[in-house]
Amino acid sequence: MDYEIRIAKPSDASGIIRCMQSVMDEKIYLVGDIYLYTERGEKDMIKNPDDLNIVSVVNNEVVGIMKIQRGIFRKTRHTATLGIAVMRGYRHLGMGRRMIGEGIEWCRKEGIKKLNLEVFSSNENAISLYRKMGFEIEGVRKNQFLIFDTFVDDVIMSINF
Ligand SMILES: CC(C)(COP(=O)(O)OP(=O)(O)OC[C@H]1O[C@@H](n2cnc3c(N)ncnc32)[C@H](O)[C@@H]1OP(=O)(O)O)[C@@H](O)C(=O)NCCC(=O)NCCS
Repeated sequence: MDYEIRIAKPSDASGIIRCMQSVMDEKIYLVGDIYLYTERGEKDMIKNPDDLNIVSVVNNEVVGIMKIQRGIFRKTRHTATLGIAVMRGYRHLGMGRRMIGEGIEWCRKEGIKKLNLEVFSSNENAISLYRKMGFEIEGVRKNQFLIFDTFVDDVIMSINF
């Protein structure tokens, strides 16, 4: 399948919202049930030079999004947080790997010293990908989530540059 990986433009905002909501609707990968950003809020994030938004696009539709947000406080500006979602039907095609690769390169260029993420312990695909990209498990918050009557741990991972 042909896809393009590129930096998001403000005009991608509605596509990003649709993509995030469709992954949230699956209920098992992301904490929120409803994506809270409006189109205007999403556009502001895309324009924020402290953030990186990379999209994966098929036939002009956003099917994957990776967001890196830099810490907003003086004490956290050396850190950033990564989030990623690829829509069902487009997974295991290499989009995740490529978007995270772009994200890591951006962090290095920006002088970020630590890139953080959190992932459900049940999400073995994602954990396997993060390890391959150089993330290490830094800690685990036990039983942090209750997903369809099963307790799931919060796995905290990071790369230190
Ligand atoms: C996790 C996710 C972002 C990965 O993106 P992707 O585009 O599917 O991943 P890729 O195709 O780039 O796969 C890269 C690696 O993932 C791992 N992977 C992919 N499919 C896998 C599978 N079925 N079993 C185990 N590992 C798998 C492999 O390590 C693969 O490495 P390889 O390229 O050497 O084979 C994507 O599956 C997704 O969005 N899932 C739902 C939302 C989600 O979980 N977000 C993360 C929340 S923390």
